[in-house]
Amino acid sequence: YSLKLYNTFGIEAKAKYFADVATIQDLRKVLVFRRQKDLPILFIGGGSNMLFVDDFPGIVLKLNLKGIEIINEDDDFVYVKAQGSENWHNFVEWTLQNDFGGLENLSLIPGNVGTAPMQNIGAYGVEVKDYIEEVQTLVLETGDERTFTNEECHFGYRESVFKNELRGQYVLVAVTFKLTKKNHKLHVDYGAIKSELEKEQIFDPTIQEISAAVIKIRQSKLPDPSQIGNSGSFFKNPVISNEEFAEIEKLHPEISHYKTDSGVKLAAGWLIEHAGWKGKRFGDAGVHDKQALVLVNYGNATGREIYDLSEKIIEDVKVKYGVTLVREVNIIQ
Ligand code: EPU
Repeated sequence: YSLKLYNTFGIEAKAKYFADVATIQDLRKVLVFRRQKDLPILFIGGGSNMLFVDDFPGIVLKLNLKGIEIINEDDDFVYVKAQGSENWHNFVEWTLQNDFGGLENLSLIPGNVGTAPMQNIGAYGVEVKDYIEEVQTLVLETGDERTFTNEECHFGYRESVFKNELRGQYVLVAVTFKLTKKNHKLHVDYGAIKSELEKEQIFDPTIQEISAAVIKIRQSKLPDPSQIGNSGSFFKNPVISNEEFAEIEKLHPEISHYKTDSGVKLAAGWLIEHAGWKGKRFGDAGVHDKQALVLVNYGNATGREIYDLSEKIIEDVKVKYGVTLVREVNIIQ
């Protein structure tokens, strides 16, 4: 079964079985089938954060759980439960139409609601964890329901318990968000947003205006997966200790970075660009010409070719800057 249409990289890979389910009942049936056959299973949402390096020897399951509902509210906050297969950006637009604040900086991120907590998506000074109340899941082995509180998700920078300790053990079926109804807390300090709003002469932005600014910035830098296959940032921005940074800064004073509580975060895009990879192309596998953190498939690249390119970049950046880049994208092999 071809997976080309189900991953934003547009990689041609095959699955032994493919299932498309729209109800929890059907999902439970597939889980029973998987247990009986003892097969590996892979859940696919928007397919926006995975690279298929090989064919998949088990079941690829496409979930189609849809729906958005307000489950509770008070004077200040609203609690919105969205089913996992809602498209992320459509959901953000729904919140903005209702004037619910929190997710505006996360406009136009590819993927679905159910995959957002997985890697704690983030952009322009906001991470989705700041607005997640709880995550509803099914236990893979038993089909039982389990709800994770925000704390139990162990969120970190592009990390969660679902990618780490509990990897492959739960299916994320819905997410409940806590959003503001008034007195929205705006995040407009990120350089690119600041300058975009200033350019538009907007000094007291609404959440809708912030979203519009984010959309403009993203469209100017990031390739649209429907035009050129890609998976957003392929690598994470590495965080190093203050001591390590002091050493690197001596050799490269102009290096793009910012300080965080846990050390200094380097811009991986800067490292890759300055190592000479930006815009490079090898067959159909390449490094995007406007944002070096994004690897692209110009048409018929194989997952292996993209992976090998990422391997070469990691080695080269290590040699030139002494920093080891870590992939953000899930490698399926
Ligand atoms: N830079 C370069 N060359 C490049 C790209 C970036 O020199 O080709 C330098 C620039 O100096 C720039 C700095 O890197 O000032 C930061 O660049 P940018 O604002 O584009 O953000 P990023 O660090 O490259 C991260 C996220 C993005 C997110 C943006 C905005 C990661 C791995 N990536 O990218 O997330 O949209 O910040 O907040 O944290 C994603 O995860 O898929 C993603 C796109």
